[in-house]
Amino acid sequence: MMRVTSVIRYVTLFLTLLGTWYLTQMYFDQSWKAISLRSWLGEALEGLQIEPQPRHKCGNQKSCPQNYFAFKIISGAANVVGPSICFNDMILMSSVKNNIGRGLNIALVNGTNGQLLKTDTFDMYSGDISKLDTFLQKIERGTIVLTASYDDAATKMNDKVRAHFTELGSSHISKLGFRDNWVFLGAKGLKNKSPFEEHIKNDAKTNKYDGWPELLEMEGCAPRKMD
Ligand SMILES: *[C@@H]1O[C@H](CO)[C@@H](O)[C@H](O)[C@H]1NC(C)=O
Repeated sequence: MMRVTSVIRYVTLFLTLLGTWYLTQMYFDQSWKAISLRSWLGEALEGLQIEPQPRHKCGNQKSCPQNYFAFKIISGAANVVGPSICFNDMILMSSVKNNIGRGLNIALVNGTNGQLLKTDTFDMYSGDISKLDTFLQKIERGTIVLTASYDDAATKMNDKVRAHFTELGSSHISKLGFRDNWVFLGAKGLKNKSPFEEHIKNDAKTNKYDGWPELLEMEGCAPRKMD
């Protein structure tokens, strides 16, 4: 009797161990299939959004093809945050560079080699408009012109200056009004209108800030002058 009991006990123990081994085997088999360490890490990184992203010139969304210059122009925000102009991965004008001001901020670049020629800022609220007239008149053919508004870019604007910007390829300059925001990339000698222009009206009903519209940000690829 004693023998039969202990045999049953051993058989029971053996079956229990076998069952445990089987279940353990099943479980790990499944889980290793379900999550490999690599994919788990990959998902974790994706979740944290720290997967390395390629950086494009000027911090733009896309890279530019060969023989195009990357640019980004950001207008001022109200009369508080200054504008910035990036061209070919170089910040040409910004608050940090301390070369911006109320009114129009303009950078001139050689359209053939992308080299900076000049930057200047023109107070369009109380400055001398003839200074801007002369500046625009002197621009040579093949020069790329990058422009950003800050605070007010229109009070002193006149038809002569508007005509200069129209010649550089602007479509919106004729409508630019008090405290509108405007970003523009044109060139001297363009045959057509520039596709690189944004304009937002100062309108109490839609303004983001008290007295000013939302800032404008425009990025793209400007073709190099080849001939
Ligand atoms: C631009 O640079 C080229 C040489 O790379 C020169 O021949 C040309 O005159 C320059 N144009 C302007 C407008 O500065």
